[in-house]
Amino acid sequence: MLEALVHGAKALDRAGVFFGHGTDNAEDDAAAILFYVLDLKSAPSPALYRRRLTLRQAVAYEALLELRISTRRPAVYLTGRTWFAGLPMRTDPRALIPRSPIAELIENQFRPWIDPARVKRVLDLCTGGGCIALATAHYLPKAKVDGTDISDEALALARVNARELQLSRRVRFAKSDHFAALKGRRYDIIVSNPPYVGAREMRSLPPEYEHEPRLALAAGKQGLDSVRVILQQAARHLTPGGLLVVEVGNTETQVRRQWPRVPFTWLEFERGGGGVFLLTREQLQRHVR
Ligand SMILES: C[S@@+](CC[C@H](N)C(=O)[O-])C[C@H]1O[C@@H](n2cnc3c(N)ncnc32)[C@H](O)[C@@H]1O
Repeated sequence: MLEALVHGAKALDRAGVFFGHGTDNAEDDAAAILFYVLDLKSAPSPALYRRRLTLRQAVAYEALLELRISTRRPAVYLTGRTWFAGLPMRTDPRALIPRSPIAELIENQFRPWIDPARVKRVLDLCTGGGCIALATAHYLPKAKVDGTDISDEALALARVNARELQLSRRVRFAKSDHFAALKGRRYDIIVSNPPYVGAREMRSLPPEYEHEPRLALAAGKQGLDSVRVILQQAARHLTPGGLLVVEVGNTETQVRRQWPRVPFTWLEFERGGGGVFLLTREQLQRHVR
């Protein structure tokens, strides 16, 4: 098995595929495919690494590696599953592949930015396949969570994930164009990983991104279309002392430039990644027009 892993990683590296959709290097990408073929639910034991693949497993593994290389489909779209904040998630091209650094904040129950005990309602705006909403419900077991998205396809996948994680009772998914269907609703936390890729960057993305919904990535000329709506409307959907957490990736530069007077707190993550800001309701009311 170890041999197969090394061989797979070398093949992926040689082919120059792009990593960054749930895995960030050739070994993890090959492992995602191999563990799927072996139907492993958790990391393999050292003894398993010494075992040889059966002929059937070897053929299936080669076929998937070949598909990964020839189509540039991200590995976790081939396997249909990934992990987010330690929870298993179904993945398919109806929604973006879960990979937000916000997972780490959720695992820490949004501490130290808010007292988890006071969090009763959370909104995951632009929820996609539901990873942020579902992980939030898991780590804040007393909270009720709404997950909203404009895409019916993404919401269908989110509902499958909710059922499998047995979280359907506390997580409600609904269709909404940003806040349009949420009139009068208020939350202690609004968290969002909205689309934030600008037009020029869209044209230069590696082919792997073409397998993800364009709606999940493209956000106008500068990548600010969704962020602008969120900044302008979030305050009226937050409770006093409530928090807004938004991922904008490397559109951070444009965000800083566009709103120079807004006192964003840019979060740091132990596991890497960045481009996530935090604002309180009061900061939004005072500084965003
Ligand atoms: C970057 S993806 C994030 C998905 C998920 N939250 C995650 O972290 O994996 C952005 C999501 O925003 C949704 N979206 C795009 N425009 C929207 C809009 N106007 N209103 C609500 N959702 C929107 C897309 O359908 C997509 O699912």
